[in-house]
Amino acid sequence: MKSDLSSENIRIPAHIGIIMDGNGRWATNRHLPRTAGHRAGVKNITPVVSHALEKGVRCVTLYAFSTENKNRPQTEVKTLVGLIKKQLKPMTRELLARGARVIVSGDRSYFPDDVQAVLAEVESENTDGAAQTVNIALNYGGRAEILRAAATAAQSGEITEQSFERGLYTYGMPELDMIIRTGGEKRLSNFLLYQAAYSELFFTDTLWPDFGTAELDGMLSEFNTRTRRFGKL
Ligand code: FPP
Repeated sequence: MKSDLSSENIRIPAHIGIIMDGNGRWATNRHLPRTAGHRAGVKNITPVVSHALEKGVRCVTLYAFSTENKNRPQTEVKTLVGLIKKQLKPMTRELLARGARVIVSGDRSYFPDDVQAVLAEVESENTDGAAQTVNIALNYGGRAEILRAAATAAQSGEITEQSFERGLYTYGMPELDMIIRTGGEKRLSNFLLYQAAYSELFFTDTLWPDFGTAELDGMLSEFNTRTRRFGKL
């Protein structure tokens, strides 16, 4: 049974992670170069994320560039890095205008100075006290994040969930309630491995550039029908 998203008793996930897969196939299906798919993928981010924020989602984490993406052919890596440099600011403008905070997670030291400057600029536009966060994972890998958090915990002298979580990029963000992966594959691919402990997983064959707000609404409805026990009876 699907629940009605307009109902007052709806549970909206506090934090959604999105693995935006399928850009390359979207382009190939249209006899276009893969880079055209990435461009279409970027265009699709603001409408989908804006819709999630409108529904009351407090945090959206986007898997935009993984540590493994660096191993793709250098021409494709160049396109992706170029898109980040050129499109990140325009893409985030509307999200910032909605009052959301935009942050970047991952090892940014990989990126050239001009791209790092763009990341810093985007984050500098954040205002204090924003209730919603858009977290863009760039040169991000879940295992690397876990190692980083382990180092933070070890440095603090006590290894507890609390000291460990302080070293996660998502520190201070709500629990990851839901992960969406477009593009047909059913795996996490090194995305938010620690945070995914109790996430509800949603997989769709839809390729990321074609993923729209209606399908997101369908997933939000289904989220409400899932019984979450967090290991308890
Ligand atoms: C997966 O599609 C997608 C990516 C590797 C990158 C996603 C990145 C973006 C949408 C752009 C990021 C840019 C900004 C400005 C945030 P794929 O290439 O693996 O598709 P395929 O599985 O069909 O080959």
